[in-house]
This record gives sequence, structure tokens and C-alpha cells, in this order.
Amino acid sequence: MGEHVRHAGRDSLAGWFTDTPSTGWTDPTGQLTHWLFALGDTLAINTLRTLAVVAQRPADRSRALADDRYRTACLLETMRLWPTTTLLARETRREIRWPGGGLVPAGTQVLIASTYQHRDPDGLEHPDTFAPDAAGSPPFVHFGGGRQICPGISLAELTGTAILRVALEHTLAVTAPRLPEDEPLPHMLDFFGIRVAVA
Ligand code: HEM
Repeated sequence: MGEHVRHAGRDSLAGWFTDTPSTGWTDPTGQLTHWLFALGDTLAINTLRTLAVVAQRPADRSRALADDRYRTACLLETMRLWPTTTLLARETRREIRWPGGGLVPAGTQVLIASTYQHRDPDGLEHPDTFAPDAAGSPPFVHFGGGRQICPGISLAELTGTAILRVALEHTLAVTAPRLPEDEPLPHMLDFFGIRVAVA
């Protein structure tokens, strides 16, 4: 990794390390493993799943092909329905009383289940429907939240939207689990079960 960073082009992300302020606490080269994972696994899975949904909805497919913003919305909506980070870990900084009366002391380890929060039947009008026009509104946490929120959001959206366009233009057929428009969407979408044939 260090070798690659030393020879990185000035117009590459790694090339920007040279001009980016850092201290003894920062480990820019150490970030690269995360970038490769985040772009190569996380984003790839989300893009593939988006392709699987859109391929089964001709109206969404046409709109996504013609409109960059709608394509991004399709990606985000897919991430709401099937978030790749299913649990977020946090620690409470103060005592919290739940509406039901329970007390959680400060310093408690908490897990936030995005898979539940993104489909909360009490908080959302159509939790189990693919609705890109409403995508991305809070309280969805597919990119996390607060101070630790994913710093790669813009890069992920930009890259995912661009790849989806090429994929939609060149895709001949997508084989995927059935995702009917008139039924609640399943809580899991196995990306290993998605096959794409491209021209
Ligand atoms: C669709 C793609 C991606 C998804 C779904 C995603 C999701 C997430 C999530 C859920 C977190 C935890 C945030 C929290 O705890 O609040 C996170 C953290 C992080 N992400 Fe991403 N990410 C994606 C792409 C990227 C990309 C492309 C990069 C960089 C090139 C990146 C870099 C990071 C880093 C460095 C952190 C750690 C932040 C910290 O703890 O301070 N991510 N991401």
C-alpha cells in the first residue's frame, strides 16, 4: 500500500494525501484498505441490488436511465430497504429514559438495528415499498449518522450513480429473486442470487 501511495498520481485520491494535513494520529495509507472494501464490496453490493430492483420495474428503469438524480434516489432507496451495515454500535453519553419508563445508564453499549429502523411500520407510510421519490430522508442510517457518519457518501453516490448508468445501458438481462410491486418487499435480498448479462 505504502509503495502505491508513494507513486500515486496527483489526480488520484491517494495522490491528495500529500496536500492533506495530517498529524501523528492520522494514518492516511491505512485508510486505503477501507476504501477498497467500501467501494469494492459495499458499494458493489448496493449497486447490484439496485440493478435487480430496477430491472423488474420498467418505469423506474426508464426514469433511472434518463435522470441522474432519480438513479441516485434508486440507489439510496435500495440501501434503505436492504442496508449493508445492519447494525451500528454506539455508547450512550448520558442517562436516557425511554418513553415506556425504562432507564439506560450513561456508558451503555447500544446496537442500532438499521434493518428494523428503515422498515419501522409506526414511523413510515410505506416501509416495504420501493419508493425512490421519498429516498434518503432521515432517520435512515445506511451511511451511519452523527460525528462518525460515513465520509465517503459523496464518492459512493457519484460512483454508484455512474456505474448504474453504464450497467443499465449495457444490461441485456438480470436474473434475481422476484421483487413484486404489489407485495411487501422481503427483508433480505441475497446478492449472490443476482446474475447480470451485459452486452
Ligand atoms: C455504498 C457505499 C457505502 C456505505 C453503505 C457506507 C456505510 C458506512 C457506514 C454505515 C459507516 C459507519 C458510520 C457510523 O458509525 O455512523 C461508514 C463509515 C466509514 N466509511 Fe463508509 N460507506 C460506503 C462507502 C464508503 C466509501 C466509498 C468510503 C471511502 C472511500 C468510505 C469510508 C468510510 C470511513 C473512513 C468510515 C469510518 C468513519 C469513522 O468511523 O470516523 N465509505 N460507512
